[in-house]
Amino acid sequence: IKEKLQVAIDGPAGSGKSTVAKIIAKNFAFIYIDTGAMYRAVTLYAKINQIDYENEEQLSEQVATISLTFVPADPVQRVILDGQDVTEAIRSEEITNNVSLVSSYKKIREEMTERQRQMTEGASVVMDGRDIGTTVLPKAQVKIFLVASVEQRAARRFKENQTKGFRVSLEELKDEIILRDYKDSHRLISPLKKASDAVTIDTSYLSIDQVVEKISEIIKTRA
Ligand code: CDP
Ligand code: CDP
Repeated sequence: IKEKLQVAIDGPAGSGKSTVAKIIAKNFAFIYIDTGAMYRAVTLYAKINQIDYENEEQLSEQVATISLTFVPADPVQRVILDGQDVTEAIRSEEITNNVSLVSSYKKIREEMTERQRQMTEGASVVMDGRDIGTTVLPKAQVKIFLVASVEQRAARRFKENQTKGFRVSLEELKDEIILRDYKDSHRLISPLKKASDAVTIDTSYLSIDQVVEKISEIIKTRA
């Protein structure tokens, strides 16, 4: 591959973005940026610093001072917030249920978008999120929009939670996902939306390997 390649993977919760993005990044030796983890970390920052999730003003004032880094590690890269490893903490139910609100704030989005673009400078990258193809990397050569039925997505999360010991029912998970998708798709600034030039892949009945295979083929035609 000669020129730097940008692969943008967007879609709703549980569509398989981060799982396939990580494998693709590894296979092609691209860097991987999990933008959802960044918004989750800002949400956790509010919790740790006892700032109400509703307090847009205070969060906006402080967001530029938040130190957020990804440290490569196996099997998952670690997320470091103000010097603390928060890789697991950002996945809690409380953070999951408040991240859509915090990530709807204009100042927060501007700051994260800026940082995400800086992280890609000079490198080939796979980035997953909600607004990568539309806003963060509008010139990405490969744009993928992953979708899956809400039943499948809730079932995947349920299975994942069982291994983590979270006790949330399948019905509750489904409602949470529907609500989060709604908030993410209806916010004013860079909502979850398929870029006009993105390729949609319905992963409901595809294995992880099949999704990876489809995206890899697209990457090879654009590289
Ligand atoms: O992995 P999961 O689908 O649960 O979500 P995530 O990718 O970790 O993202 C968590 C939340 O961050 C989303 O529900 C959005 O509210 C927000 N987000 C965003 O607004 N923009 C992005 N580019 C990525 C995530
Ligand atoms: O990042 P996003 O929220 O879009 O989804 P994910 O965290 O990558 O995937 C959610 C769960 O679905 C994971 O446990 C994956 O192993 C699983 N998955 C699957 O069963 N089949 C796929 N085609 C993709 C993901």
